[in-house]
Amino acid sequence: MTSVTLPPIENNKVISKAITFQNHSTPWELTSLKLPVASPESIVQPDQILIKTAAVALNPVDILLRELTPRRFVGSSIKVAGADFSGTILQIGSSVETDLKVGDKVFGNLLNPFSQNNSFTEYILQKNSTFQVLQKVPEQVSLVDAAGLGVVSNTSYQAFKGSKNLDGGNVLILGGGSSVGYFGIQWAKYFGAKNIVVTASSSSSESALQAGATQWIDYKKGKENEFKETKEIVQSIGKFDLIFDTIRDDTLHSHFCDILKTKPEGGKLVIVAGSFSHAHAPRYLDMVPSIRFVRTVVRSMIRFSSFDVEVLTCQYNKTYAEDFAKLASSGNLRIKTDSVFNFYTEYQEAYNKLRLDQAKGKIILTLGEDAATNT
Ligand SMILES: NC(=O)c1ccc[n+]([C@@H]2O[C@H](COP(=O)([O-])OP(=O)(O)OC[C@H]3O[C@@H](n4cnc5c(N)ncnc54)[C@H](OP(=O)(O)O)[C@@H]3O)[C@@H](O)[C@H]2O)c1
Repeated sequence: MTSVTLPPIENNKVISKAITFQNHSTPWELTSLKLPVASPESIVQPDQILIKTAAVALNPVDILLRELTPRRFVGSSIKVAGADFSGTILQIGSSVETDLKVGDKVFGNLLNPFSQNNSFTEYILQKNSTFQVLQKVPEQVSLVDAAGLGVVSNTSYQAFKGSKNLDGGNVLILGGGSSVGYFGIQWAKYFGAKNIVVTASSSSSESALQAGATQWIDYKKGKENEFKETKEIVQSIGKFDLIFDTIRDDTLHSHFCDILKTKPEGGKLVIVAGSFSHAHAPRYLDMVPSIRFVRTVVRSMIRFSSFDVEVLTCQYNKTYAEDFAKLASSGNLRIKTDSVFNFYTEYQEAYNKLRLDQAKGKIILTLGEDAATNT
């Protein structure tokens, strides 16, 4: 068994510095958590895993969850921020069923609103069932880059897994420059899509094309142009099998019948749940969808839609691990890391950067030097 250094224990507790908040009106703060130790022999309970965190990554949903935490009811308790992480496994409980071993470098995500069961903490001590993703870091990937994989790769995986006719099919990704969309391009390619069209700005178009997009539409040229170019593309390649909306762009909502295949043909619209504001400083009102969006979803709910509609949130998916490992070993895995900040001293700067909505890839916080490698 690989030898690892366990954390010091004080009064039957592991002290773990964490980035926390209480509610939408309190700041993010560095707090010392006291994690309960199971027994003198073992830190973990039989169903738990203990991980020493190397790096964590920010997601827009982190800001959203804090903004949506009211002062009343749940607003007085301390909540740990964040979902994504990478690190090293220090202990595995005796009843945990897993192929992972002590000493393995792993990445993953936890997403548990209003709780301490999240990732921005030096030591992650959680039940195995709490992880939505817990996966070995591919050999060629550093722990810094791996920290940003969990939420975006898994969320976009769910849009593609189970969609019909992807092999040789047509996919449109709204927001090919977003981190979820960038992974969507890779999954579309992995599942065999022939035409992968994305909307993106000129600053993200090159990376989208390198990742496997076959055509891009510059959404910055306006809604009319977006529709016109999409229709022209459909005239040349045929209707889309899957439209994956990562940024809740309602430009095309009135035109889906013209560009998306029907339900019997396997046509599906997948929308990632989130704020309707693209500034990453959402408020309650930004959660209110546009009329076009509501119409699309309601029509599908009352079976009045000619195509399938799914609104997606990041969840555990049992086939993800195997497909992710295959994607990584194919040599086609691409990761966009925008910037790296210090977990202890620069988290506020990192959140400020996320709010500006100008990051081209993931914003990472590192807890130590070893995160730059995977050794
Ligand atoms: N519910 C969940 O479980 C869940 C999970 C993950 C993500 N989400 C949500 O999904 C969204 C995307 O997340 P992310 O992490 O991928 O965000 P991100 O990496 O911060 O994406 C931001 C990028 O989206 C692109 N974009 C913005 N407006 C656009 C538009 N109208 N058309 C096309 N592209 C546009 C811009 O790229 P360019 O201008 O450079 O092209 C921008 O840089 C967020 O709202 C997030 O909250 C939800």
